[in-house]
Amino acid sequence: MNEKIRIFLVAGARPNFMKIAPLFRAIQMNSDSLYPIIIHTGQHYDFNMSDSFFIDLKMPKPDYFLGVGSGTHAQQTARIMIEFEKVLLEEQPDILIVVGDVNSTLACSIVASKIEYLNNNKCHIPFVTRNKRPLIVHVEAGLRSFDRTMPEEINRIVTDSLSDILFTTSDDADDNLINEGISQEKIYCVGNVMIDTLETMKSDIHQCTITTQIGLVNVDYGVVTLHRPSNVDSLENLRDIMQVLSAISNKINLVFPIHPRTRKQLEKNSLSIPLKSNNRIKLIEPLSYKEFMKLLFESKFVITDSGGLQEETTYLGIPCLTLRPNTERPITITQGTNELVDLSDMEEKVNLIMEGNWKNGSVPENWDGKTAHRIVSILLGQITTM
Ligand code: UD1
Repeated sequence: MNEKIRIFLVAGARPNFMKIAPLFRAIQMNSDSLYPIIIHTGQHYDFNMSDSFFIDLKMPKPDYFLGVGSGTHAQQTARIMIEFEKVLLEEQPDILIVVGDVNSTLACSIVASKIEYLNNNKCHIPFVTRNKRPLIVHVEAGLRSFDRTMPEEINRIVTDSLSDILFTTSDDADDNLINEGISQEKIYCVGNVMIDTLETMKSDIHQCTITTQIGLVNVDYGVVTLHRPSNVDSLENLRDIMQVLSAISNKINLVFPIHPRTRKQLEKNSLSIPLKSNNRIKLIEPLSYKEFMKLLFESKFVITDSGGLQEETTYLGIPCLTLRPNTERPITITQGTNELVDLSDMEEKVNLIMEGNWKNGSVPENWDGKTAHRIVSILLGQITTM
């Protein structure tokens, strides 16, 4: 094992798990020269926000679990940095791969950029010997909402500025990076690793029985997910959103797997009580990957503020109404099935979808289920010369 190039794969929160899974598998397929080490920071820790994903995605238990839990941004980021530094110094991997835009992505790339490996005899690539730190690789680089009130936007900008190799999902992300002065040579447009997971898991997803379990077989329904602070942290906003969802449910059933942040707000303010008596809105716990994807596959449309869902709906050709003033994933609008909506237009947009008046969209280039393999072969080609 010591002769192999060791790669840290960092995941912290729910959307990260389906991004590291295909990378883990692609690295394992090159196990003669590469060795993956999974670091779970513990940013998400509930069974259905974390463990259930490892089970569904057939991933081994993480090699390290940092157990950082929740807190303010500073607390959470600081805890990840402190714990991650210890593991980084102990293992001294050649490569650090971070994915997405959560606090774990930011924290681990900052630590890796300033670490100094002492007495390093574990490393195998010239870059590491020379710089005494791992090569930092960001998967899903270059996405920008241009809205710095979003914590994720700060995480994206800082992570990209520290990364040595940047893998992007679409050309607009390449343009954003180049506009920020990042050298073209570091950037590779490779497609979307989330789609790799979706493709790999397709037959497992089809066999999942969640729609039967929640009584939605042969019933038209829309899926709702909301968790962004801008939507759910303000009582007024959340109350308005719930009223609009209630009105939409008069026309079509809605299923709403509730994120812990949203549940806290709903319960603190007794907003879920009226919805509980409305049997056309099903408020359910967060689902596992397979369950959620099954629900999505059979849905008529999605109302969301998630980043990943904008991409998954575009891939599947399902209409997506994104309740945000901006998106870091514009290709899902220009090419896909996504549209940004204001709450006041939501009902009208749902009507359009139900009348069959929605764009069909097309799948962006390289969203083909093979992105992780592209990433690993680029890494294998680059690392010996860097
Ligand atoms: C985080 C990410 C966001 C991502 C989202 C996906 C950052 C800045 N935000 O936001 O980009 O879209 O994950 O879900 O990294 N909680 C639990 N159980 C858990 C996890 C969280 O109860 O397993 C509670 C926490 O106590 C906290 C709230 O949920 O109060 C929010 O969790 P937090 O990790 O702070 O951010 P998210 O909103 O999940």
